Amino acid sequence: MFKVNFDNRVALITGAASEKGIGREIARQLAKRGALVVLSDINEEGLAVAVQEIQDLGGKAASVILNVTDRNQVNQQVAEIVKEYGKIDILINNAGVTRPTRVLDIEEKEWDFIFDINMKGTFFLTQEVLRYMKEKNYGRIVNLGSVSGKRGGGIFGGSHYSAAKAAVTGFSKAVAREMAPFGITCNTVEPGLIGTEITGGLLTEEKKEVLKNDIPVGRIGTVADVAYTIAFLASENASYITGEEIDINGGSHID
Ligand SMILES: NC(=O)c1ccc[n+]([C@@H]2O[C@H](COP(=O)([O-])OP(=O)(O)OC[C@H]3O[C@@H](n4cnc5c(N)ncnc54)[C@H](O)[C@@H]3O)[C@@H](O)[C@H]2O)c1
Repeated sequence: MFKVNFDNRVALITGAASEKGIGREIARQLAKRGALVVLSDINEEGLAVAVQEIQDLGGKAASVILNVTDRNQVNQQVAEIVKEYGKIDILINNAGVTRPTRVLDIEEKEWDFIFDINMKGTFFLTQEVLRYMKEKNYGRIVNLGSVSGKRGGGIFGGSHYSAAKAAVTGFSKAVAREMAPFGITCNTVEPGLIGTEITGGLLTEEKKEVLKNDIPVGRIGTVADVAYTIAFLASENASYITGEEIDINGGSHID
């Protein structure tokens, strides 16, 4: 039987503290399959709970405070993780933020906020972790894009979010091409609407009902829907898939 296994693998996941978030579920799914997961986030309290939860289930988990927009902190924490655990085999660039602001109302500060976390943070982490992956001639990077970056806007994302996620996808493809000779793959997943807190409470029950009607599969996505796909892309078995973008959207955008 085909089984994804992460024994002896070290995974770093950004934005992994959020209680109902995709990052925390990715950590759970990788840990369940044997990985040592390093959860990172700016939310210290959430991290502690998430790590405890995985350890209580018998998984191997640790945490680091890491703001993806802080270059020095990224470099220091990545070096610390490698010093402690010897390597980083898997990097999941999951930290992200969105705002439902109309294009005419976006101020420069908000544009930078969205780009810094979604795109520049992905660049900082990828560049720093790649140095170590290259030494080992092995690596799996999975970046979080969004359906918003493909179809032009989502339900909760403004044009800055669409642009940043499309940039993440383009970045991933170029990294994939450059790093393929070193046993490193880099892919993007493009989730549709997933029931997490990123919508800032705007996803009311009434709104959910309306949105469901536009999703051929007939339901809003779960964090597990996203985490299962990421677990496969992060596995050894996915060595021939790189530079790819995988839609996880219940058929709400088919291209
Ligand atoms: N939920 C969806 O519908 C959806 C759809 C498409 C793509 N995505 C993407 O999936 C990823 C996860 O989203 P989610 O829905 O789980 O969101 P979430 O809000 O539940 O979690 C995001 C996490 O990122 C962390 N974070 C924010 N700024 C940070 C920073 N500067 N440094 C480090 N961590 C930071 C937050 O503390 C939080 O734990 C994001 O990249 C998002 O854009 C989500």
